[in-house]
Amino acid sequence: MDEAVKKYLNELKELGIEYQILEHPQLISVEKVQEYLGYRMDDAGATLLMKTDDKFVAIIKRGDTKLDNEKIKKYLGVKNLRMATEEEFEKITHVPSGAATVFIKGVPIYLDKKILEKEYINAGSGSLLITLRYKTDDFKKIPGIKIVDFTKIETDKEDLGKVIKGGKRILSGITPSGDGSLHIGNYLGAVRQFKELAKNNECFLFVADIHALTTVQSREELQKNIEILIINELALLGELSNITFFRQSDVPMHTELQSILNNVTPLGLIKRAHAYKDKLQKGLTEEEMNMGLFCYPILMAADILIYKPDIVPVGQDQKQHLEITRDIAENFNKTYRKKVFPLPESHIPKEVAVIMGTDGKRKMSKSLGNIISIFDDEAIIKKQVMSTYTDPTRKHAIDPGHIEGNMVFTYLDFFGKKKRVEELKSLYRVGKVGDVEVKNFLLKTLIKYFAPARERYQELKSNPQKVRKILMEGSERAREVASTTMVEVREAVGLTNKYSFFEY
Ligand code: TYM
Repeated sequence: MDEAVKKYLNELKELGIEYQILEHPQLISVEKVQEYLGYRMDDAGATLLMKTDDKFVAIIKRGDTKLDNEKIKKYLGVKNLRMATEEEFEKITHVPSGAATVFIKGVPIYLDKKILEKEYINAGSGSLLITLRYKTDDFKKIPGIKIVDFTKIETDKEDLGKVIKGGKRILSGITPSGDGSLHIGNYLGAVRQFKELAKNNECFLFVADIHALTTVQSREELQKNIEILIINELALLGELSNITFFRQSDVPMHTELQSILNNVTPLGLIKRAHAYKDKLQKGLTEEEMNMGLFCYPILMAADILIYKPDIVPVGQDQKQHLEITRDIAENFNKTYRKKVFPLPESHIPKEVAVIMGTDGKRKMSKSLGNIISIFDDEAIIKKQVMSTYTDPTRKHAIDPGHIEGNMVFTYLDFFGKKKRVEELKSLYRVGKVGDVEVKNFLLKTLIKYFAPARERYQELKSNPQKVRKILMEGSERAREVASTTMVEVREAVGLTNKYSFFEY
């Protein structure tokens, strides 16, 4: 390892920035490095050195995002902006082109916030032979770093935010992990858009109970989680017209299809899945990991493909699973020379792709304890709202406050009345309203917003017959569609012949 890299690693240590060293042959392009290491472009970060009117700036961006030069110019208040030439780059950074370290001494540094949607990212070390895997949150420790939004929207080629006109088949699922209860992140990221889509599309929504077996291995706990999730979802959905609601385990064809798809799924494809890699990253050994967890994306592909949906609305964290599903479908169609599976598209509206948690740092997730729940006692929701991250630079209610990154306002933007929220933002900016007051307003807003769902929740809890009926009808319809696909699949792969008699 050369001296410059050692020096950089020392600097990282001093700043408290953790990293993991990934070695590879000499590779210049980020694409090649990621491919070699088995990662995708959205797991990569790159620091771009750019020249403005009169100085250089460095911008850290994610491998799959394009930057919007107009946004950057406006933010920096400059007229000109271009990439530094190779000569300029090497003169300023003292490292070869293609090996930029994440930050460059003496150059103002900006972090495009898309990076923070990933927990870890691979980026430069100063050497073409070493890539470092950084925890993105640690980037905030880089002296003087500014978090900005420079992402060019339309370059997100995965139909983010696409409008769905109607007449399509929509499918999605939720796993009863955690304790089965939903939080506002699940609501905004999944249930709300599903409800919207159900207005003029044919929808299938299921409780992915077999998926939960990967982590929930207590019979009582699993049963309880499933019950809670079913009632949570039904209470939030309210109206079920156009929606087939069912339990995955009531439609055994999902696992049958998974067994068949296993055979057209390359091991490498699954090894590249985030779910598996993140578990390894977190220290779980291959001995401790079960095959259910590892093969999870194949079951998910079966869940989806068996209904031949056009669109799968999910949060950003499921995007890779959708890509894997498309790969598996293509492999199947190619192997059996028959287009059995149309390729489904993900639907990830940008504004709800990742709902951040009350800590303002990570995706809202039950396991991180940064949630606002929907059906818990009001006292619990109050506690969650009161501990929500606001503006750490604001010490007193009379200090001017920041709205950007302030989670209370982020949530209010989703749930509050626009006019009142805008009024509060103006007051907050000039220090005329305190955090507690704004939080109380958020609490009141949430309780009011979810009051009808909370009422339905109580009603459903006391009426198990009604819930059973919904599930029975849902699974009947789901089995009808699933068995039609399975007949096609059995035909395509050659499981039928003159000695066949099996019928669903
Ligand atoms: P699950 O149960 O983890 O999450 C359910 C849905 O909620 C979304 N979500 C979020 N969206 C935005 N911000 C957040 N903080 C947030 N937290 C959760 C998730 O993206 C997801 O859409 N593997 C799936 C379940 C599944 C499935 C399927 C989904 C199994 N088979 C087939 C679609 C199609 C999962 O575990 O999601």
